[in-house]
Amino acid sequence: VNLRSALARLFMPARIRRLVKLNELITGYWVTQAIHVAAKLGIPDVLGDRWVAAADVATAVGADPDAVYRLLRALSAAGVTLEAPDKRFSLTMLGKQLRSGAAGSMRNWAIYNGEGWHWRAWGALLESTRAGRTAMQNVHGAHLFDFLAHDVEAEKVFDAAMADLATIDNLALVSSYRFPPRSKIVDVGGGNGALLASLLKTFPEVTGTLYDRPAVAEKARATLAAAGVDARADIEEGDFFARVPSGGDVYVLKQVLHDWGDERATQILNTCRTAMGPGARLLVIEIVIADGPAAQIAKLTDLEMLTMTGGRERTLEEYRALAEAAGFRIVGFHATRTPFSIVECMRSRRFY
Ligand SMILES: C[S@@+](CC[C@H](N)C(=O)[O-])C[C@H]1O[C@@H](n2cnc3c(N)ncnc32)[C@H](O)[C@@H]1O
Repeated sequence: VNLRSALARLFMPARIRRLVKLNELITGYWVTQAIHVAAKLGIPDVLGDRWVAAADVATAVGADPDAVYRLLRALSAAGVTLEAPDKRFSLTMLGKQLRSGAAGSMRNWAIYNGEGWHWRAWGALLESTRAGRTAMQNVHGAHLFDFLAHDVEAEKVFDAAMADLATIDNLALVSSYRFPPRSKIVDVGGGNGALLASLLKTFPEVTGTLYDRPAVAEKARATLAAAGVDARADIEEGDFFARVPSGGDVYVLKQVLHDWGDERATQILNTCRTAMGPGARLLVIEIVIADGPAAQIAKLTDLEMLTMTGGRERTLEEYRALAEAAGFRIVGFHATRTPFSIVECMRSRRFY
């Protein structure tokens, strides 16, 4: 059956091939939910490095054996698991990245993307598109960060998802910029501290302050301690619309501006500028949208911003306009060996 089907597929007319491809795109959310459920139930942790019978996986995670078998089989079609003839399964290299604690694990990101509140917001993309407004407002009646501040469980899921993303290529990212020796870094909206930890490890003479909302800043303490760099780091809690710690040599805004529309993003830049001395640098680290038709993840994360935060991904020219409106000029653009670029800014002379 397998050989005949493979041969038949080889001669599939291009028109049908296109329909199959289109169907994959149309039903992409089936895969999203299947991966979400596996991650949430901890199935990749049960599979580990072994072949395990679907029935044993079901027992271990307390779910229905037939449904777990069908889930694992569907995930094999998506390239996440491998199926042996006796209904045993193992993880592919991709699937291994869904184990908790694995290097570069995306488990929490997978959980976040299928979580009810996130899912319902994406379900309202139509209204967002018509009105140009975030779906979070529409569905949950609050901006993402206000919503998170009032829902402890959702906040845990969000922070863990951000922490997963923050571990991607941080070392490659920080080594793309020469942080001046003995400089003091302020990581504004620094999240779980993964970037600052990589930075302090890479540049042993540098010190840093992580600045974020109270609940998040608290968790960053653990990341910095685990990385053994807490002696050179301090943590400040606060609201970056109100104030940003002063006295830094290099200010970092990584994936912060993309969470906000132009007006709020300009306010964040303004508070940073007020805190910065004339010689200080501001590094805006974002996936900058390339001009033209190139396929780029930022063109999709831009929809996550439209739905969830009311922010947007931007082109370099859009970052330039934003920076100039807030009294900065762009003094450097650094491509990195990651999807991120570093847009280096200084205060404009007229703002001295
Ligand atoms: C998308 S995350 C980026 C985190 C981190 N810079 C990174 O790249 O992993 C945005 C961060 O902004 C923080 N944030 C949101 N509103 C804030 C506010 N009003 N004041 C300070 N931090 C805030 C969030 O808590 C979150 O950690």
